[in-house]
Amino acid sequence: MRTTVGIIGGGPAGLLLARLLHRAGIDSVVLESRDRAYVEHRQRAGILEQGTVDVLRAAGAGERLDREGLRHDGIELRFDGRRHRVDFPGATGGRSVMVYAQTEVCKDLIALQLKEGGPLLFEAQALAVEGADGDRPRIPFRHQGREDVLECDYAVGCDGFWGVTRGAFPPALSRVFERTYPYAWLGILADVAPSHDELVYARHDRGFALLSMRPPVTRHQPSREVAPLPIESFVSRLYLQVPAGTDAEEWTDDEIWSELERRFETEDDWRLERGPITQKSVTPMRSFVHEPMRHGRLFLAGDAAHIVPPTGAKGLNLAVGDVATLARALAHRKETGSPELLDAYSATCLRRVWQAERFSWDMTTMLHPAPDATPFDARLQLARLERIASCRAAETDLAEAYTGFPLG
Ligand code: FAD
Ligand code: DHB
Repeated sequence: MRTTVGIIGGGPAGLLLARLLHRAGIDSVVLESRDRAYVEHRQRAGILEQGTVDVLRAAGAGERLDREGLRHDGIELRFDGRRHRVDFPGATGGRSVMVYAQTEVCKDLIALQLKEGGPLLFEAQALAVEGADGDRPRIPFRHQGREDVLECDYAVGCDGFWGVTRGAFPPALSRVFERTYPYAWLGILADVAPSHDELVYARHDRGFALLSMRPPVTRHQPSREVAPLPIESFVSRLYLQVPAGTDAEEWTDDEIWSELERRFETEDDWRLERGPITQKSVTPMRSFVHEPMRHGRLFLAGDAAHIVPPTGAKGLNLAVGDVATLARALAHRKETGSPELLDAYSATCLRRVWQAERFSWDMTTMLHPAPDATPFDARLQLARLERIASCRAAETDLAEAYTGFPLG
């Protein structure tokens, strides 16, 4: 099999790259190790920066996003029983974010790719990348029990943190920067209307909690009358700080709701609504950067190159930034013959990546009490939150980072 750009991984990074290349007249093949249903239902991110929304629209994948996504103009910080709203447009000159699930982004991109893009092979597992420093990289892969090879001009590793492509970098070239955290997130989806119309990030001595949501789902309930009845079901997404290594099944639904109630407690009469929990899982927290993001004709994009702890909602947005930068560089090469933008790819992305690493670390350490935290540490966290609540410059810094750094 032969193509111009061989893409390993059909998560948001790989799917969007294939789409952007198709729009630029560059052919590609996507190899995805899992099946379609798995990719479309893997619960993850929910917050899209304005720049991410713009890229998806420009890729022709903005139609359902614009119809169903929820524009959010702020978040609430909750600490010491107090509530402080950060107003995004006011602080940033008009920027906001969009609530639209990663599962839906993937569904939209898969549908477009299968309709009018190049091959997207599910259950196709890349085994390695060979010859990255030559003219024609090769990607051996296994598909439906058969071994095959994808030959390409460029290979792109969009295969997430656990993929194979980082391993194709010579050890002498690779530099890894990493931090793990002694806590994780227990995330749930619940069939209940969100108890607040914006996200709530809560710091409590018992641990961090986050209230988020998904756009309402419209279901058509069969009725005895002529037309089925459309029913809007509301979905809450909530997260709870738990010790690293926790098994989600250790927590009963009742224990989850009780703990969320305690961590979201306020001085006023705000209340958390409970509902049936439909999904429950634990996410580990990690900061990780692999430098450089390019070796010869092999490029890394998204979680294959970097991981942030989820507190700043940056992971998916960084993946989109990488592939938008790469697609532009490949199109520039095709149109002008110049490798200038491809040569700059790693440095261009890493500038943005490190800003997101800094912000995600900042949000995480400000809001999560560590297991060995002292009373001094707790006071410092409160002082950092108080600073944002009382100083316009500090609040603007948070709002600018949360709504997104320019693609550069
Ligand atoms: P992935 O989504 O991991 O996709 C990689 C793909 O490669 C997978 O489909 C995998 O099956 C495939 N693959 C792996 N190995 C191979 C192989 N050998 N051959 C072929 N295919 C392979 N980010 C945000 O921006 N905002 C948020 O609000 C947010 N919240 C999050 C909440 C949670 C609970 C979690 C877990 C993450 C969150 N993130 C968030 C992060 C975000 O989900 C990731 O950064 C994003 O999925 C990265 O996309 P990706 O395409 O780079 O990698
Ligand atoms: C969601 C996830 C995040 O990591 C975050 O910071 C905000 C919202 C979410 O899944 O809705």
